Amino acid sequence: MMLDLVFVETSLELVPPEILRHPSVKRNAKRRGKRAEETLLDRSLHHYAMDRLSDAEKRGRPDILHFCMLEAMGSPLNRKGHLRLWVNTLQGYNIEVAQSTRPPRDCLRFNSLMEQLFVNGQVPPDSKEPLMKLSKASLEDLVKRSSPSKVIALSSHGEESNFPDVARMLSDEARPMVLIGAYPKGPMKDETLDLTDEVYSVYPESLEAWTVTSRILYEYERTIGLI
Ligand SMILES: C[S@@+](CC[C@H](N)C(=O)[O-])C[C@H]1O[C@@H](n2cnc3c(N)ncnc32)[C@H](O)[C@@H]1O
Repeated sequence: MMLDLVFVETSLELVPPEILRHPSVKRNAKRRGKRAEETLLDRSLHHYAMDRLSDAEKRGRPDILHFCMLEAMGSPLNRKGHLRLWVNTLQGYNIEVAQSTRPPRDCLRFNSLMEQLFVNGQVPPDSKEPLMKLSKASLEDLVKRSSPSKVIALSSHGEESNFPDVARMLSDEARPMVLIGAYPKGPMKDETLDLTDEVYSVYPESLEAWTVTSRILYEYERTIGLI
């Protein structure tokens, strides 16, 4: 039993060129002794600079991926080798995450690791078996490459369902893939939804991405009898 989990439209990127000269960006980079273009876009630091960015409400939240990855990589499902995780970003980058990856607990260390990933293309930089590998690839490329038997997206705008029923539907599949949006606000893009077979809402309200991650993995573990 293997579950493919993809964090989609993930709010993770380096500071984009159009705001590199903004004082808050320059100040933060200088304080950390880094070049501005090698630092992550982070709303908690770059709030005013982000005003001029398109799609701003979905960007600059690396903390969301941090929490989601801690939930996923620490789950019994992953520890027992039944989870494959990918991260697809809003700007069309794809991150392949090895099962042995244990993300740093500390958010500053996590952000530094992600900066290293964007700058060097993988972490650790010189390893033959990297923990994380970055490539320019769309979600469509990823779905084609892993040819899942069914792609289910979780969205508060989806068809009404619940965690146990969706877990059962996933476990009925030979190669299930589930998509969770690792971004703060707004519906999934049509180009994401077009790649799915089904879209379900698992709770009557919008939840945080990490809550949805931990609960769907838990229900899936129960459904396949892992726990
Ligand atoms: C903060 S939400 C984004 C907000 C938006 N209302 C939504 O669900 O599309 C981040 C992600 O958590 C998941 N999510 C949040 N609430 C959900 C719900 N009630 N049912 C299914 N998935 C949900 C979705 O994958 C969503 O992309």
